[in-house]
Amino acid sequence: MLSDSATSSVTSLEHLDMKPVIVVHGGAGNISDKRVPGCRAGVKRAALKGYDILKGGGSALDAVEEAVVVMEDDPHFNAGCGSVLNEKGEIEMDAIIMDGKDLGSGAVSAVRCIANPIKLARLVMEKTDHVCLTDRGASLFAKAQGVEEVPEESLVSEMARERWEKNLKPGSDPVASQIQDRGTVGAVAIDNSGNVACATSTGGMTNKMVGRVGDTPCIGSGGYADNFVGACSTTGHGEKIMTVTLARIILYHMEQGMSPEEASDTALTYMKTRVRGLGGVIVVNNSGEWTATFSTNQMSWAAVKDDVLEFGVFRGENETVNIDHPLASQ
Ligand code: GLY
Repeated sequence: MLSDSATSSVTSLEHLDMKPVIVVHGGAGNISDKRVPGCRAGVKRAALKGYDILKGGGSALDAVEEAVVVMEDDPHFNAGCGSVLNEKGEIEMDAIIMDGKDLGSGAVSAVRCIANPIKLARLVMEKTDHVCLTDRGASLFAKAQGVEEVPEESLVSEMARERWEKNLKPGSDPVASQIQDRGTVGAVAIDNSGNVACATSTGGMTNKMVGRVGDTPCIGSGGYADNFVGACSTTGHGEKIMTVTLARIILYHMEQGMSPEEASDTALTYMKTRVRGLGGVIVVNNSGEWTATFSTNQMSWAAVKDDVLEFGVFRGENETVNIDHPLASQ
């Protein structure tokens, strides 16, 4: 049982003058040339949206939720209206959100016909005694909370439909196609009170079995946030990420004294060598140091700190621009 002193020490972590930081990803994998400009623009928009909330004194939790909503509403990403299709040609989405202040978390899995699963995950966190709701239960809960149901067709992008159809053809390579599709989205942030949060949302793996649940809604796999350490959101091959509980081991390495970058490199190398899994992560620690690291060929990402926007897609790419510069929002 937690003593009162343990509880008050969480509160004492809050620093009122912390510099806010947000980092977002739009998925790790092989991003085709055609998709690169849209993914790059989408992650920049999401990071700027989250940073605007933080600069206005908003919470890390609000910032990561809204940043993820921007990407769920963007068909370039495998989340919300860009979600991939399952083997039956349907959309089943997973999402998680976590508040590092009190380790509160909420998740949904295999949820259908809503535009923004991340908002439903937050409602699970705030309005239920549970951590994760799935499938029919998640839909019933969404209805009870007044979340608008949208036609499934409105969430199906042309690209998702094309890829699904291609994978149904004899001789297709669904594994290679899945690598193309890892466009899960996520955000981590620290606010000016020193609170950290994470959010992750995905349509999962293309042509997946009906009812398949990936890493994203699993606490410690798709994301983790703890004010004592930092926050992490992951992307990549869900079954591999779950096997190594990627987000939590990164926080463990940081607890042992590693920087976000060292912890991410160590954990991604472990996942690659131990289970032959590839992916990417974004991490912020409770001092505001951050990283965007991946073992795949590409990962779209963007970050804002000190009014400077950094972003990239390819290995070694790190473009920098002031948030007021016209290029920031293009
Ligand atoms: N990382 C997303 C998924 O595998 O579902």
